[in-house]
Amino acid sequence: MFAYINLLYLLIAVGSASPIVYPRTTNDTNPFVFTNSNGLNFTQMNATLPNVTIFATGGTIAGSSSSTTATTGYTSGAVGILTLIDAVPAILNISNVAGVQISNVGSEDVTSTLLLKMAKQINEFVCGDPTMAGAVVTHGTDVLEETAFFLDATVNCGKPVIIVGAMRPSTAISADGPYNLLEAVTVAASPLAKDRGAMVVMNDRIVSAYYVTKTNANTLDTFKAIEMGNLGELISDTPYFFYPPVKPTGKKAYSIANVTSIPRVDILFAYEDMHNDTLYNAVLSGAKGIVIAGAGAGGVSTSFNYAIEDVINNYGIPIVQSTRAMSGEVPTSDISTDSALHIASGYLNPMKSRVLLGILLAHNKNMTQIAKAFAGSTDD
Ligand SMILES: *[C@@H]1O[C@H](CO)[C@@H](O)[C@H](O)[C@H]1NC(C)=O
Ligand SMILES: *[C@@H]1O[C@H](CO)[C@@H](O)[C@H](O)[C@H]1NC(C)=O
Ligand SMILES: *[C@@H]1O[C@H](CO)[C@@H](O)[C@H](O)[C@H]1NC(C)=O
Ligand SMILES: *[C@@H]1O[C@H](CO)[C@@H](O)[C@H](O)[C@H]1NC(C)=O
Ligand SMILES: *[C@@H]1O[C@H](CO)[C@@H](O)[C@H](O)[C@H]1NC(C)=O
Ligand SMILES: *[C@@H]1O[C@H](CO)[C@@H](O)[C@H](O)[C@H]1NC(C)=O
Ligand SMILES: *[C@@H]1O[C@H](CO)[C@@H](O)[C@H](O)[C@H]1NC(C)=O
Ligand SMILES: *[C@@H]1O[C@H](CO)[C@@H](O)[C@H](O)[C@H]1NC(C)=O
Repeated sequence: MFAYINLLYLLIAVGSASPIVYPRTTNDTNPFVFTNSNGLNFTQMNATLPNVTIFATGGTIAGSSSSTTATTGYTSGAVGILTLIDAVPAILNISNVAGVQISNVGSEDVTSTLLLKMAKQINEFVCGDPTMAGAVVTHGTDVLEETAFFLDATVNCGKPVIIVGAMRPSTAISADGPYNLLEAVTVAASPLAKDRGAMVVMNDRIVSAYYVTKTNANTLDTFKAIEMGNLGELISDTPYFFYPPVKPTGKKAYSIANVTSIPRVDILFAYEDMHNDTLYNAVLSGAKGIVIAGAGAGGVSTSFNYAIEDVINNYGIPIVQSTRAMSGEVPTSDISTDSALHIASGYLNPMKSRVLLGILLAHNKNMTQIAKAFAGSTDD
């Protein structure tokens, strides 16, 4: 099949100046009409269109439900990549899409091992291939922001990486998945989307993966960067960016080419009357780094603060203090009240702080380097 296609390509290329075109087939046994040099399969190849690879992880965008009004209780990840493409034939007017089924799990089951695999494949199949315009990652929405942040930090070739999900199951009335997918592919294929890092595209909004968070457990308008706003929006499936490409303050790019695992980082939630034993439990359970979702600007109780100092000084485990508040900053000055090297999260929420701390630990960064990275230093 592969050899035949390439021969055909050659004949057409030699025979005339017109670009290759392989329309969609109706052959269910083999729906793929073109295979590229990385072994990615396309259901259509119209060489004048941009090429986009969709990495499918599962989640609601692929979910199915027996009832058209049930918006909870569906099985995440029930439908594969071909079904996604079939559900949104309009994407073939915008791009040639290849699908990579990277997993088929709800977002709650995405692991750091899967993230590494995903980032490496995007670097190889998209960044490493000059014929590929961008990548789309379909993902369950619950921990989508962590995956988006990870990909933003570890895929840095200037090509758009778009993370997309759906809040309603695919069988619900007004399911949002199909249109979100169309918009995601459109942005991934757009030259306007270059050099903007990874982005979440859902509900007509384009949001920076560095800042975006899930603000509502149920509604369609959930993914927001509350203080920073949106990068752009889509109107009638046309992207409009509000500003030229810009890099978030303090963002650094990390290579995961040689990283084989991400050390365990736990998040501990601060609350009134909190006890310090949760911190020691995390250490004893094997956490190599800890993020505190502190009250306000990283605050914890007095006894917990002593315990933080103890763990930093005597166990050598980095502790990043973030905030349980929906938005705002944790500046170092608000948490450094004693002799330990407290690390403030800045504007990163606990979930994003956990991902960054994991990446830094995977690169064997010491406590000082970790503190500098969170402080936005561009030093190594
Ligand atoms: C469909 O594809 C299969 C596998 O490539 C091939 O054997 C078969 O002949 C095709 N059927 C038609 C009707 O083209
Ligand atoms: C492409 O199709 C071939 C043959 O059907 C299959 O072996 C291969 O795994 C597919 N590639 C991907 C990336 O899914
Ligand atoms: C290929 O894409 C171009 C747009 O870039 C479009 O004008 C043309 O009709 C497409 N060809 C086919 C066969 O779909
Ligand atoms: C899409 O991929 C095909 C096959 O690799 C290539 O010939 C074509 O130039 C690509 N399209 C663009 C716009 O780069
Ligand atoms: C693709 O574009 C053609 C030509 O503009 C249009 O007739 C067709 O309806 C479009 N297909 C989809 C699925 O939007
Ligand atoms: C990864 O390891 C290879 C082989 O040791 C080395 O050449 C390369 O520079 C390393 N890459 C990074 C980003 O550290
Ligand atoms: C942790 O809390 C316990 C009381 O629950 C207290 O006895 C202990 O001194 C605290 N540890 C530190 C380091 O403050
Ligand atoms: C951390 O690493 C940097 C760079 O290698 C080094 O200059 C610094 O002395 C180290 N700090 C500690 C506390 O080990």
